[in-house]
Amino acid sequence: MSLQSHLTGLAGKAFADIGLSSDYGQVVLSQRPELAQFQCNGAMAAAKLAGKQPREIASAVAERLAEAAEIASTEIAGPGFINIRLADEALIEWANKTADNSHLGYDTAGEPLTVVVDYGGPNVAKAMHVGHLRATIIGDSLARLFSFAGHTVIRDPHFGDWGFQMGLLIAAIEQTIPGLPYFDAEATEYPGESPVTLEDLQRIYPEAATRGREDAEFADRAREATVRLQQGDPGYRALWRHMKSVSEESQRDDFRALGVAFDLWYGESDVHDRIASMVDALKDSGVAEESDGALVVRVDQTEDNREWPPLILQSSAGGFLYSTTDLATVEMRVKELGADLMLYVVDRRQSDHFTQVFRAARKGDIASDGVGLEHIEFGTMNGPDGKPFKTREGGVVRLGDVIKMVQDAALDRLNEAHLAEEYPQQEREAIATTVGVAALKFGDLINNRSSDYVLDLEKFSSFEGKTGPYLQYAAVRIKSILRKATEQGLSTGAIIGPAVDVERELILELLNLPPVIDRSIDLRAPNHVAEYAYTLASRFNRFYDACHILSEPNPQQQASWLQLSTWTLAALERLLDLLGIEIPDRM
Ligand code: ARG
Repeated sequence: MSLQSHLTGLAGKAFADIGLSSDYGQVVLSQRPELAQFQCNGAMAAAKLAGKQPREIASAVAERLAEAAEIASTEIAGPGFINIRLADEALIEWANKTADNSHLGYDTAGEPLTVVVDYGGPNVAKAMHVGHLRATIIGDSLARLFSFAGHTVIRDPHFGDWGFQMGLLIAAIEQTIPGLPYFDAEATEYPGESPVTLEDLQRIYPEAATRGREDAEFADRAREATVRLQQGDPGYRALWRHMKSVSEESQRDDFRALGVAFDLWYGESDVHDRIASMVDALKDSGVAEESDGALVVRVDQTEDNREWPPLILQSSAGGFLYSTTDLATVEMRVKELGADLMLYVVDRRQSDHFTQVFRAARKGDIASDGVGLEHIEFGTMNGPDGKPFKTREGGVVRLGDVIKMVQDAALDRLNEAHLAEEYPQQEREAIATTVGVAALKFGDLINNRSSDYVLDLEKFSSFEGKTGPYLQYAAVRIKSILRKATEQGLSTGAIIGPAVDVERELILELLNLPPVIDRSIDLRAPNHVAEYAYTLASRFNRFYDACHILSEPNPQQQASWLQLSTWTLAALERLLDLLGIEIPDRM
């Protein structure tokens, strides 16, 4: 159990003792340690319900709470806030039992869930762009959080490889190079080498997409190509496989550069074989119906205050769409993966799409009410002009280029700060990469995910302020202190004290890790972890300024401080890991 839950239990009991619900006993660490250690604000809400004065309830609760052995004092502030101060003996007891706990005092889930995190989501023929970047960074952090909490996590990018975009590409290639064997109905064998490179595809796709919008005849041809591909035309399938593999290769590289790995590498096409039976079942149950030659599922509900267009399962041309594969993927995840919860970490602009898919999944009994379906939406990453980030020429920035940009920025900053100067070139470059990726990830994750933010390389790569590099440096510094201590033959020992206020504040902050992680998980919001990592590093820095660990004459005191430093490092390493950030050994 965490210290915070323990105190919440005590406060809850105090409320219950005066005949009120123990739910009012929620205790939190105070954000302002100079004023209070812990706070309980339940008296205000309780008073409203009981028709009493909040301060009256607060004093009754505070009085009872103060009787507990581990509470040093309680005090009422303002309209009825209860400030709680823990006895130092209790604090030290909690510190010692948590400091070397492998899970940092966090209790893993009693009932582990199978959680599918759907994130990244690149498409065939398109290099990943910054839009996929946020999905990747946020999704990866959520996957790490759920996994740390003890759930079984399945990471799946849901690669875009089956819809109309494939038809557009095939139609465009067929028109430009009609002589290829993929378009020859007589052909039985196809070349092993791809007829197109990723660069070709990246040029062809935008042209084809524009044409598909402007040229009705071409759009028809693309729709036909989509249907033929889906129905198994051997030439189209062979061409499609080539397009898929050249794209995947570059996408895997991009993910690797970001330190992100998936458990599955499924795409939309992988559920194709489930579609026919799913569609039949939806027709049989009357959930799917005909509309203008297409097959649709109506998803509007009586309580809606806007219009909800139906989800299209099959177009009038016979093709299956993005929604169809998403619906079949829900089915696959429930039936084959045993998913209890699916988190779709996708751009806010797809919010209508997911509402349609989720409603259709419930209506068609593809996912029962017990299965969680959530769209974890996020805002855009903007350029300095406040508009979605673009290249100087106004084009879409590729993910690989963004990674290069942050690495360069990191290298500049390392040079400015005279860090890693005398290290071998190869190590310097590796450090710059790690620092650059940290700058990018932390710069994203420190924001509330639903807000837009500006990609500010200067700010993100700084070694000061709320940045990835600042936190990496804080951790590296503790590593170096501990290395020096080992060289001097020193070791850690039981935590004693605390000798000074900043030390007490550091311990209180370290003990606050479990509720922060819970909040991040409950709200699907890694920014709480990011914010907390920063607070913790700052508290450690203050402690380190005040307590001169390596020159401390009292061996017991020194061993205690070394233990506190070891604990802080373990916490920072874990927190940064939850954000997908690596820590260099030195810099
Ligand atoms: N490929 C899609 C895109 O680039 C994102 C996929 C998101 N996941 C999903 N299950 N639909 O827009």
